[in-house]
Amino acid sequence: MSVEDPVRSAKRRAGEEAAARVRDGHVVGLGTGSTAAEMIRALGRRVRDEDLTIAGIPTSFSAAMLARAAGIPLRSLEDVEGIDLAIDGADEVDPHRNLIKGGGAAHTREKVIAEAAVTFLVVVDESKLVSRLGEKTPVPVEVIPMALPFVLRRLRQLGAEPLLRMAERKDGPVVTDEGNLIVDARFGPIEDPASLERAIDRIPGVLESGLFVGMAETVLVGVPGQDEVRQIS
Ligand code: A5P
Repeated sequence: MSVEDPVRSAKRRAGEEAAARVRDGHVVGLGTGSTAAEMIRALGRRVRDEDLTIAGIPTSFSAAMLARAAGIPLRSLEDVEGIDLAIDGADEVDPHRNLIKGGGAAHTREKVIAEAAVTFLVVVDESKLVSRLGEKTPVPVEVIPMALPFVLRRLRQLGAEPLLRMAERKDGPVVTDEGNLIVDARFGPIEDPASLERAIDRIPGVLESGLFVGMAETVLVGVPGQDEVRQIS
């Protein structure tokens, strides 16, 4: 019998707890990444076992593929009146529930869907908790291709070490679902995430940054080796 990796099971428990909060009739934003994938699989099981009528709004091509395989009916934003609950992962979470997202290059759609939702619920394992954003992770910035050299200069002026994200097992840069590029801007620990978010968003050619400030209502934290999922609200 194979034993599940403790971090994987922490992600699974957080994902299952989030999926348990979906109600019949809900329109649900479906996040991207390995923890959100656990939630999508758990939600698919609920759709099958409890005959739930829900609609999923995917935050990426990858989330859409997973949701289809899990049997979750999909809609797009224009087909629905609103989103009841968006559930997504994060790369870093600070004590005020501010986030860095975009490790999967999906943060622009993720931000639209989180902001459109009545409730934004985040699922992570404990390793994502930091005292200050930027401690471990650079801030992903989605950039339209022609603006790249200009945006790199502006990000340096803001104090970042910016790096164009390169693809693995494909030559060249990562291209997002929207056809843009991702710059990973390493700032180190960020003193004021709200003003940095505004400063990055003001650069022409930037579509969206991976800073999510004041958006998450609740964070569910899976802890390796513990059955209980911690809740930060
Ligand atoms: C996708 O672009 C990101 O915002 C993800 O939500 C983030 O990378 C979390 O992924 P994991 O759950 O795989 O760590």
